[in-house]
Amino acid sequence: MNRYARIAGTGGYLPHRRLDNAEVVADLATRGIDSSDAWIFERTGIRARHYVDDGVYASDLAYEAAKRALAAADCPASAIDLIIVATSTPDMVFPSTASIVQRKLGIAGCAAFDVQAVCSGFVYALSVADAMIKTGAAQHALVIGAEVFSRLLDFNDRTTCVLFGDGAGAVVLKSSDTPGILASELHADGRYADILCVPGHVSGGRILGDPLLKMDGQAVFKLAVGVLADVARSVLVKAGKTEVDIDWLVPHQANIRIMQSTARKLKLDDSRVIVTVDQHGNTSAASIPLALDVGVRDGRIRPGDTVLLEGVGGGFTWGAVLLDM
Ligand code: ACO
Repeated sequence: MNRYARIAGTGGYLPHRRLDNAEVVADLATRGIDSSDAWIFERTGIRARHYVDDGVYASDLAYEAAKRALAAADCPASAIDLIIVATSTPDMVFPSTASIVQRKLGIAGCAAFDVQAVCSGFVYALSVADAMIKTGAAQHALVIGAEVFSRLLDFNDRTTCVLFGDGAGAVVLKSSDTPGILASELHADGRYADILCVPGHVSGGRILGDPLLKMDGQAVFKLAVGVLADVARSVLVKAGKTEVDIDWLVPHQANIRIMQSTARKLKLDDSRVIVTVDQHGNTSAASIPLALDVGVRDGRIRPGDTVLLEGVGGGFTWGAVLLDM
């Protein structure tokens, strides 16, 4: 009998502090930097993003999203035997944010670790959890994407600070004899590490190098539109499906133009794409599970639907997961 990993419940959490473009533009103006709601919306599709308050960390957001996913799955925390958190903004250098989430959930004992693949992190984490469930190493996995990118932003750099936000999304994956995750594929090309990075590091009790986000937006854009369509086609082939089988595309929410370009290449109508970038901004590893949760909770994504998740981000990394809900 084949063993599959199925999504049993989803959850999402956004910090309460919401900033629309007008507030971000007004803040930039106080430092003499010019921007506008029109520029941000037309180039990216973003209207608003959420930021954490001081003292709130990725594990706090992850914990809230996890509680909601567990409730939706009707799964007690005590049944979880694997926690993977995808994050590039962990609470601390170590232990992992997953270990801290485990402590907050009060479930000592199960495996817990972080995955770091920037905006592709959730797809990476889901793929790892799928493999562990298929081998029997786990039965009930909590897979979370959680980020506080607001702490990495250079608020003097208008080309990046308007793009990102904070949040967390989670799924409970259960072992099942019906699919489930149908196929997944992960990639990286470290030759492009410099086009999207936070180059600073900790050494001898000090931060060395620049600890703020740097991005060559046009280079990221060009790479993203190419690899996303290719990896989507590749997972479809692996699963023995074609574009017409996709009910919903849940892409990483970086830029509406990247999402629409992928949808066009897959001959998917824009109405089949779950879009949250307008309200969330780019929440990196949290963006896909947050968007999935929105689509499930508003009733668009239904049991039995075939969903394509795909992510792209720093590394350079990219990947896709095709699944039946
Ligand atoms: N307000 C006003 N003007 C701006 C702003 C702003 N916030 N930001 C940039 N501009 C200006 C630029 O300075 C430039 O001015 P210039 O022509 O005088 O030099 C002009 O707008 C055009 O800039 P471009 O960089 O050419 O704008 P583009 O259309 O490429 O859009 C963007 C930039 C939105 C960043 C786009 O390139 C993009 O979305 N790239 C992909 C980003 C992405 O996906 N990143 C996340 C990956 S996920 C991860 O791993 C974290």
